[in-house]
Amino acid sequence: MTVHFIGAGPGAADLLTLRGRDLIASCPVCLYAGSLVPAGVLAHCPPDARIVNTAPLSLDEIIAEIAAAHAEGKDIARLHSGDLSIWSAMGEQLRRLRALQIPYSVTPGVPAFSAAAAALEAELTLPGLAQSVVLTRTPGRASAMPDGETLAAFAATGAVLAIHLSIHLLDKVMAELTPHYGADCPVAIVWRASWPDQRIVRATLATLDTAVGPELERTALILVGKTLGADEFADSRLYAADYDRRYRPVGAAPRFPESSPESSQ
Ligand SMILES: C[S@@+](CC[C@H](N)C(=O)[O-])C[C@H]1O[C@@H](n2cnc3c(N)ncnc32)[C@H](O)[C@@H]1O
Repeated sequence: MTVHFIGAGPGAADLLTLRGRDLIASCPVCLYAGSLVPAGVLAHCPPDARIVNTAPLSLDEIIAEIAAAHAEGKDIARLHSGDLSIWSAMGEQLRRLRALQIPYSVTPGVPAFSAAAAALEAELTLPGLAQSVVLTRTPGRASAMPDGETLAAFAATGAVLAIHLSIHLLDKVMAELTPHYGADCPVAIVWRASWPDQRIVRATLATLDTAVGPELERTALILVGKTLGADEFADSRLYAADYDRRYRPVGAAPRFPESSPESSQ
């Protein structure tokens, strides 16, 4: 018996890995984390599966569900939205399972920031503009931020910020970022990326307030950085005609000639 932790993706039911789909289909029990896991993903469960929404459960109650299935020798598909490596509460569940000696596996999913970037048709890292993306959030009722992990500290680097769990604090976020990025820095907000009711607003730090209007839906990502919507940036060296590389040797004395053993690796 194994508990399979599976990243269920950002919303669209087909943004699920094949491994995740097959594991869901093989498990007689499915525990899923609330409304962000789409019905289309749950549709892969076997017809007679026990399907439990864990949103109203405490950690103790979730572990009790898992222990009960374990006692019956049943595999469990444990679904969390997006990917499991960020804000999934997987860590505390794995710690309990290790203590109970219940085996588990972890299957990644498409994170919301990737789905939001795809919705914007954006490469977040562009030569000369930004080469780092910070996945972050603001403090919430349930989660304080460790000292040093402030928006101002991340903004001081000029990296692109993908700010989660913070749309309700939009004014505060904008005020904190403007001194670092400048009022004309591009911002994009993507609500419910990849869901049928996805919504996008593009603006600058100065114009965002009026562009957003009253917005009640909380599932949104705030993306801030110079690469958003940018057209003025250098081509990458990777595809430059004169750039000598293993897969495209160039010049009279290429560093990686086609016949060299390295070039066939
Ligand atoms: C608890 S975190 C889960 C993050 C998730 N594990 C991931 O990999 O993206 C929830 C936050 O992620 C963001 N989020 C999740 N799904 C989203 C979506 N489809 N569109 C926009 N933002 C999303 C929102 O900021 C939301 O408040």
